[in-house]
Amino acid sequence: MEQLVSPALPSRAGIERAAGRLAPLVRRTPVVAVDPGDLSLAGAGAPLVLKLEMLQHAGSFKARGAYLQLLAGELPSAGVVAASGGNYGVAVAYAARRLGVPAAVFVPDTTAPAKLDRLRGLGAEVAVVPGLYDDALAASRAHAEATGARFLHAYDQPEMLAGAGTLARELEQQAGVDRVVVAVGGGGLIGGVACWFGGRVAVTGVETEGCATMASALAAGHPVEVEVSGLAADALGARRAGAAGFAAARRWVDRVVVVPDDAVVDAQRRLWSALRIATEPAGAAALAALTTGALRVAGERVAVVLCGANVDPAASPTVFVAGSGAGAPDPAAGTRGDRARRGSGAA
Ligand SMILES: Cc1ncc(COP(=O)(O)O)c(C=O)c1O
Repeated sequence: MEQLVSPALPSRAGIERAAGRLAPLVRRTPVVAVDPGDLSLAGAGAPLVLKLEMLQHAGSFKARGAYLQLLAGELPSAGVVAASGGNYGVAVAYAARRLGVPAAVFVPDTTAPAKLDRLRGLGAEVAVVPGLYDDALAASRAHAEATGARFLHAYDQPEMLAGAGTLARELEQQAGVDRVVVAVGGGGLIGGVACWFGGRVAVTGVETEGCATMASALAAGHPVEVEVSGLAADALGARRAGAAGFAAARRWVDRVVVVPDDAVVDAQRRLWSALRIATEPAGAAALAALTTGALRVAGERVAVVLCGANVDPAASPTVFVAGSGAGAPDPAAGTRGDRARRGSGAA
């Protein structure tokens, strides 16, 4: 159903304030300028700017928003509770530990082992729920009701957009670009980036075929429920776009392109092969928009956000192979970790 009340979107001033609060807490992640030819990108033009946000604390951009959520007002003695397919839970657990706040994280039983291990190592109370992200979400809400813990949402709260906005602000300080390309799950990341740029720079979203949540929402004119599956579903598999992310995307995102899973594997492989950068599938999805030609950017200065690192290279031996050549996608590529994640649906 159409959203009747516009969700609040962070202003540039709000994002500036958020950046000030986050400055002592999060990493200013580096950018590198790469010759497109190094990644075997056809029609090599201006250097491609890669924003290495997978070097953020807890391995993804989610740490920014998670910190802001924890800093937003008094916290109950029961602490906080969140649901996640992995990265957001890891970020909440990380930030909560740093701030001395008790945290409970509910994850679906399809969460990738690399993320579960990282989560457990951070000292949060972890509950593994049979089913999908939505089941973990329901369990986390029930936990909040029962214990008084503050409920945190993975992408549809203003702090999550503001946190992503700080990433965009940082990027703008580091590199002059005409276009920024980011992966989309529930829309917190792209929503925050779009709010910061406010149309001054083109913002393009990328989803995988099994997780075309925002593309479906934009086509319908409002967020709709979609079935989610595939390689990146534990990160990009929100079943419904968040109201705020959708509102920002509708206003400022020039387009959302959809890429197949094998193109994501190919993008992961190119990053590894050329630069020895290991990303999880969602972390390479934005690059796949360029390598497939789904997004053509002739003459533009483009930044690609590499947004997540939580992958176990040993579980993806067909991707992270020493000496593997950059280039040819392998449609048969699939890994133990990949298969474990299929159909998880999460954020
Ligand atoms: C690595 C990574 N990239 C992108 C996303 C999508 O973010 P959002 O749900 O804010 O659109 C996620 C969500 O968990 C993620 O973990």
